Amino acid sequence: LTPIAPTIADVRNAVSGARAAGKTVGFVPTMGALHEGHAALVRAARAATDFVVVSIFVNPTQFGPNEDFAKYPRTLEADQRVCAGSGADLIFAPGVAEMYPAGAVTSVDVAKLGDHLCGAARPGHFRGVCTVVLKLFNIVAPDVAFFGSKDYQQARIIVQMVRDLDVPVRVRVEPTVREPDGLALSSRNRYLSPAERAVAPRIQQALRVARERVRAGEVDAARLESALHAELSAIPGARVDYARVVDAETVQPLARLDRPAVAAVAVFLGTTRLIDNLSLAEC
Ligand code: PAJ
Repeated sequence: LTPIAPTIADVRNAVSGARAAGKTVGFVPTMGALHEGHAALVRAARAATDFVVVSIFVNPTQFGPNEDFAKYPRTLEADQRVCAGSGADLIFAPGVAEMYPAGAVTSVDVAKLGDHLCGAARPGHFRGVCTVVLKLFNIVAPDVAFFGSKDYQQARIIVQMVRDLDVPVRVRVEPTVREPDGLALSSRNRYLSPAERAVAPRIQQALRVARERVRAGEVDAARLESALHAELSAIPGARVDYARVVDAETVQPLARLDRPAVAAVAVFLGTTRLIDNLSLAEC
């Protein structure tokens, strides 16, 4: 099992030791309930750097008051096995008081990139994400940090934050890992009922249909979005949170597909909110 460092001092000590031994440091921030998507990030870190730190912290500041913070899955021992199996050297698993001691009042806000999609649907979410990720970068001080493109907007926002605040870390964004039927792996998939799980792959299928429309010559974003919305609404038990076509770089809405674009969706199946996206760029 990969050892756990519960305090900031512990992880700083371990990383200093690795650095003193001439090692480069890779970092994979997570909220635990690790699956093969997280494991792929750890393996990428293992391949690119010498000492791999995984953080496991269910960050309260990125959850809204009516979201699933309290019931978010916490599976530390299983996570330790996933980390060991994919080559992590250390898990940083702090408590809430270690990360947010009483009196902390500073947060990080990346303008514009968070205005749409999940930023609009979950007010304050990306402020919480950026604040905790910058803190984690300052604690771990990695050479390279790894994120998944499953959370497309999050990855773009982190890249922008690192650029704007001169954070000395290289950010790598890795492809989405999927189930054989196309469903993007997510810690929240375990909330799905068997019936919801059975229809969940239709989210990815709807995105593929949108990509086919683009390949067939569609360039009007509004028409693409309404077709995508209709496909998703047709999934039994689904409620569409958003279905948008955005600029791949700025995550802003597009009128015409005259530059690299991404289709991004959030869909409730019952009470479970699933997100997915697909690049429309390589059409
Ligand atoms: P979490 O949802 O645990 O995800 C941790 C990392 O794993 C993120 O970079 C996410 O994009 C990536 N990931 C999740 N599912 C994936 C999949 N199917 N394929 C590839 N990568 C996948 O994202 C967070 O935690 C938090 O917001 C965090 C960045 C840790 C800040 O609290």
